[in-house]
Amino acid sequence: MDDAKIVEVGMVLGVASSATQVEGGGVPHTWSDWFDRGRVRDGADPAVANEHFCRWRDDIDLMAEMGVGAYRLGIEWARLEPEKGRYDGAAAAWYLGLLGYMRERGIAPLVTLHHFTNPLWFEADGGFANYANIPVFLGFVEYAVRLFGDLAAEYVTVNEPNVFAVQGYHAGVFPPGLRSMRAALRVQSVMASCHVLAYDLIHRLRKEAGFTGTRVGFAHHARVFRPLSGGNLWHRFCARFVKYFFQGALARACLLGDFRFPLKRFASVKRGPKADFIGLNYYTRSSVSSFADGMAGGVPANDLGWEIFPPGIAECAGDLYALLPVPIYVTENGTCDNGDLFRCRYIHDHLKALSESRLPVQRYYHWSFTDNFEWCEGESARFGLVHVDFRTQKRTVKKSGRFYSAIIAAGGITARMFSEFVEPEVYRT
Ligand code: BGC
Repeated sequence: MDDAKIVEVGMVLGVASSATQVEGGGVPHTWSDWFDRGRVRDGADPAVANEHFCRWRDDIDLMAEMGVGAYRLGIEWARLEPEKGRYDGAAAAWYLGLLGYMRERGIAPLVTLHHFTNPLWFEADGGFANYANIPVFLGFVEYAVRLFGDLAAEYVTVNEPNVFAVQGYHAGVFPPGLRSMRAALRVQSVMASCHVLAYDLIHRLRKEAGFTGTRVGFAHHARVFRPLSGGNLWHRFCARFVKYFFQGALARACLLGDFRFPLKRFASVKRGPKADFIGLNYYTRSSVSSFADGMAGGVPANDLGWEIFPPGIAECAGDLYALLPVPIYVTENGTCDNGDLFRCRYIHDHLKALSESRLPVQRYYHWSFTDNFEWCEGESARFGLVHVDFRTQKRTVKKSGRFYSAIIAAGGITARMFSEFVEPEVYRT
């Protein structure tokens, strides 16, 4: 049988995770504190997570066996700098060992410097709600970049400042649990400033050290915002307003150093292109009828109730590319599918949308490699290509993981792969 490719995948396919969500190992930080306060719904402890801190070698081996050649990983600030200005030598050695082993196994790292979690000492000083803390974050960036030397050439400075700010400072469901729109906007301004300054700093440090191949960006959580009813003027206004407040202003600030209302520029931030790639985290569409998030009825949805809207990945990538035409990295895309019942279809549909878009998408990092600690949902929301039995920590490659490996091996999706993995699956509405 002729097994023609029906989806060409020209980009590098990798996997993604973040430090707090996989490492475990009991580091005092904002999420261990959040757990202590009983704010993780199913009582899962981030001190356990995937026990990746002990099992890292096996995890990297599994990645390599699956044919994965690119891994977006996080580093835990609180592990590396447990007290302000005191860096932990053993933690540094652990990350060097991990990055070195990845290199040995042919897996290229994209290192995320901040992904939702703060050391407690930093949080006690006001965290990212405090402009005076910008140099403190930059101090950590400098330490990490010097430490990793030529083991890591590519960095994501900050992950999803909008989600971090909205969940922690407006919705109150992430630490520090506040409910203030003003504070959420200030956090976005501070984090965007951190990104812009870190961008310049990383380039300077690596250039001084004689390293080449540096690429720096931030991971932006972008959604499609649609009016719940297209004919309703108020819904249309809300969709535009929420899109701008949630992601539009932030994208402009981080990609171009152009801070416009409602964001504020930190004094030393200069305008200019501030990303070597567009980092896009895409999951869903919101259908809004007010200034809050919203969901349309009767549309495909994942196990957390998020709309599944594959064309949105190309729409969001296109919006960002129009602001700054640099290569696109999809730094996260995936779905909560506890039974692995529709993940293959989800992957197929999103890769197809990207490949048909004709945008310069160079990388796609699937979220996530393994099921992991999903923030307030704990272990109850599974996003992995690899199943984790949290009782025994046994890893088992899911059907979607086998599909992903097959796509990597074939450089696309063939008709046979489609009928084996995708065709039997349907989204639920
Ligand atoms: C975050 C991840 C998270 C994923 C699924 C993204 O917004 O960066 O940490 O696990 O969404 O909720």
